[in-house]
Amino acid sequence: MTDTTRARPSRRRFLAGAAATGAIASTGFVPTRFAIGGQAPVKVGILLPYSGTYASLGEAITNGMKMRIEQAGGTLGGRPVEYIAIDSEASPPQAPRHTKKLVIKDQVDFLVGPVHSGVALAMAQVVAGRDKPIMIIPNAGANALTRGQCARNIFRASFSNWQTCYPCGQVMADDGHKTVVTMTWKYAAGNEIMAAGTELFKEFGGAVIKDIRVPFPDVEFQAHLSEIAALKPDAVLAFFSGGGAIKFVKDYAAAGLKDSIPLYGPGFLTEGLTEGQGAAAEGIKTTLHYARTLDTPVNRMFLEAYKKAYNKEADVFAVQGFDTGSLLLQAIDATEGDTGADASPAMIEALSAAEVPDSPRGPWRMSEAHNPIMDIYLRQVEGGVNKILGVASRDLEDPATGCKLDT
Ligand code: BEZ
Repeated sequence: MTDTTRARPSRRRFLAGAAATGAIASTGFVPTRFAIGGQAPVKVGILLPYSGTYASLGEAITNGMKMRIEQAGGTLGGRPVEYIAIDSEASPPQAPRHTKKLVIKDQVDFLVGPVHSGVALAMAQVVAGRDKPIMIIPNAGANALTRGQCARNIFRASFSNWQTCYPCGQVMADDGHKTVVTMTWKYAAGNEIMAAGTELFKEFGGAVIKDIRVPFPDVEFQAHLSEIAALKPDAVLAFFSGGGAIKFVKDYAAAGLKDSIPLYGPGFLTEGLTEGQGAAAEGIKTTLHYARTLDTPVNRMFLEAYKKAYNKEADVFAVQGFDTGSLLLQAIDATEGDTGADASPAMIEALSAAEVPDSPRGPWRMSEAHNPIMDIYLRQVEGGVNKILGVASRDLEDPATGCKLDT
């Protein structure tokens, strides 16, 4: 945010001053959203999965976000933080009800969520265009949310689905493959990630011989793996995440495909999961905006702090949660703690120009469509870890096709 905004007398200061002079008593004005002295908690609504195949993602995001806020003193704009969390169960049909509860009944200042693209699209229907809350998406990559359905009060701290696998096509072509079968869950994230991953592959002359789609969150892969064995493509491009990705990678190896048909995908397939996948993950090449093995002081410090706080290894989802915390801090610092509806434009302006130089993934900045512009790494599992082979795409920005913001 600009210095001009920082210097502006804040609503909080105004109210504190008014109280001191007795103005509140004499006018009868009672601040409902803002306690005197700025001690009313900032309400952060959270809609993330805490059960089902994406449960570990929701937990890591929550941990990362809280850790970032704790590192900044445990407050937002000098005010205590009240987290109101709901288990999304990664279920799009439930999302409107949960979102309305947080937005209308709880009147949260910020809304953080979700993981699942379908849940995100449903949440956006409720939230888009409101003055409050400001929504920060800590994972869900649904392309539309920062393309045709972008909104002035919705920001992403994660990625668009397109970004995570756009470089995959070139990687497969460079490895000499001419045919590919895609396999994923049948919903927005799966379809969009596979479309992105095959875009360049086709441009380089490759052919997609079959698209296999499994209902979300099913993990019965056997019949599909037998079909792949019969089709004999040069490579398989797949997206699964969380518990489903552990099972898919293990089943793929158990079906005897690992050594004959190499597996590619976005890094969600293996990031933070290699311990559970064991030898089955060895050799898998993926692209992603993070790898635990990123050898930078910021990432090393992050991994150490996370381990100390939660006695767990951090992963890409913890990073996205951590960066969500950074965005919350930047937004509220711009208004010195004011989260009233009239403070929204200043927070939105701050987030629109946000830079996150201290992210464990490497520095990134917000695009005009409210999505990270960042490096995408090429990684390969070697010795049980996702080793970084290089930067697959530097400063990758989603095309943001059709995004028109009214600010
Ligand atoms: C999604 O639904 O957008 C998603 C879920 C898990 C990992 C990546 C993307």
